[in-house]
Amino acid sequence: MKLSVSILSKEEKGIDLVKKFNNTNIDYVHVDVMDGKFVNNKAFPMSEIKKINDISLKPLDIHLMVKNPEKYIMDLAMLNVECITFHYEVVKDINHLIEYIKSFGIKVGISIKPETDINVLKPYLNSIDRVLVMSVTPGESGQTFIDDTYEKIKNLKELIDSLNSKTFISVDGGVNDTNANLLKENGADILVSASFIQKNLDNIKYLKEL
Ligand code: DX5
Ligand code: ZN
Repeated sequence: MKLSVSILSKEEKGIDLVKKFNNTNIDYVHVDVMDGKFVNNKAFPMSEIKKINDISLKPLDIHLMVKNPEKYIMDLAMLNVECITFHYEVVKDINHLIEYIKSFGIKVGISIKPETDINVLKPYLNSIDRVLVMSVTPGESGQTFIDDTYEKIKNLKELIDSLNSKTFISVDGGVNDTNANLLKENGADILVSASFIQKNLDNIKYLKEL
């Protein structure tokens, strides 16, 4: 299983976590960018993301929980970024933003909140690389996984297959050993995790070996 580890934490600095993850076999460092508008919290200003990028040996997986994602793209494109994900709920011209991110040679993801229907993604599934399904309300780590996510992923996987799309499904929020296996069975390709990994780095092995 592909694993993207979120460095959002109340206890530890992002930079310190990145140093720890350098010596592991995680695939990406998941950076949650929050503007205090789309979600209440604020995190990782660009200056901090640049520091994280300088230290990280892993490519960055950027999750933009912001009202105006477009203004972040140019700066992020200078870094070792694998994928930039924005939220469906805030973008008016989605096709334009997809093309803009792609013009930098970066993969594109669209994220949907727990209450957002998967069918809104249909027009974009052949142009994007990932769907980031939120399994908690966006905004903070350490929340409880929402069980409806299994069904959502199963239906999304069917939709992706019906369109002959190669889009990956990524799941973010409350991922741990009670749900990871079932998420995989339902069609998840990438798991995002903060708390479960930060609690015990041995959990990396568990998720990677799924
Ligand atoms: C939540 C963030 C997640 C969060 C995951 O809004 O997008 O990436 O850090 O944290 P856990 O794994 O603790 O739910
Ligand atoms: Zn995230």
